Amino acid sequence: MKALRVYEYGGSAALRLEEVADPVAGAGEVLIQVAAAGVNPIDWKILSGAMQAFIPLPMPFTPGVEVAGTVIAKGDGVTGFSLGDEVFGFINIVGGYASKAVAPVEKLALKPRSLSALQAGAVPASALTAWQALTEHAGVQRRQKVLIHAAAGGVGSMAVQIARYLGAEVYATASAHHHAYLKALGANHTIDYTAQAFEEQVSGMDVVLDLVGGETQKRSFAVLKRNGVLVSPVSAPNMTLANDYGITPVHFATRSDGRQLSLIAGLFDKGHLTVEVEAYPLSDAAAAIDKSLGRHLHGRLVLDTTR
Ligand SMILES: NC(=O)c1ccc[n+]([C@@H]2O[C@H](COP(=O)([O-])OP(=O)(O)OC[C@H]3O[C@@H](n4cnc5c(N)ncnc54)[C@H](OP(=O)(O)O)[C@@H]3O)[C@@H](O)[C@H]2O)c1
Repeated sequence: MKALRVYEYGGSAALRLEEVADPVAGAGEVLIQVAAAGVNPIDWKILSGAMQAFIPLPMPFTPGVEVAGTVIAKGDGVTGFSLGDEVFGFINIVGGYASKAVAPVEKLALKPRSLSALQAGAVPASALTAWQALTEHAGVQRRQKVLIHAAAGGVGSMAVQIARYLGAEVYATASAHHHAYLKALGANHTIDYTAQAFEEQVSGMDVVLDLVGGETQKRSFAVLKRNGVLVSPVSAPNMTLANDYGITPVHFATRSDGRQLSLIAGLFDKGHLTVEVEAYPLSDAAAAIDKSLGRHLHGRLVLDTTR
């Protein structure tokens, strides 16, 4: 099979396209013929070596946390999936940038029928992150005011739609050229964070979903109601500020969860969610990584592993 492999930490130039032996599905795993692999910021964070203290990886490794494709072999004890099933999932911390990948069945769900394989490959990590942030960590309720930073990006574009599905009033920060896209996704209010400080434009938020970190996160305390929730998968909110403002701070890492992904697949098929992707051939993954590193995306990036 084809796989992108990394022999030493670095930038996108560290990716090498190679022909390697197929992986073998172990007990409770399936082998997937990968059609598409999503590109996420975690991929270049891992590639750079910045995560090696928390996520030590043997060299060489293949980046990529999520795929969509077809089940072509089953390990011992696998039930619930059949050969030929089209699946998608947040499979692991690495392994997706390849034409085949193994995954534990509990991390997979059947691909939404309404999505192409390229769209489905770009969904699992970002949709699970947005779903877990808004439902499990922030407990968003109907008519609550929810501010989403970096709303036009991968997680943000899912979060805008999920927050609207949950009945929230959605405030979204992004550069002005993303505003029509965000309105189409369901944002009630768009804020150009490059033109004016967001804290001068919004207040009384029940929830802030921080997808930026740093100063943006720090400045977000001031726009929340007392007892509001500041939730971030990027970095832990400052506890002193949380106490001063009476805010519940939440920092979390996304959990891979096939059952939850199945629920999310249903939301795509019922028309509550949609995803816009920009596809690159596997052989041009370096360009996709560089684009993700630029941090000004609109929707999701995906690798077409058939090219
Ligand atoms: N811990 C976990 O488990 C976990 C899981 C998923 C994601 N994450 C993290 O969450 C973050 C977001 O991920 P992602 O995939 O959504 O990233 P992304 O797609 O690369 O986000 C790009 C978006 O960020 C916006 N942006 C950049 N700076 C901004 C600012 N100061 N204010 C408002 N918007 C800004 C850009 O909008 P403009 O073009 O308008 O600038 C662009 O649309 C990443 O750091 C990622 O690593 C963590």
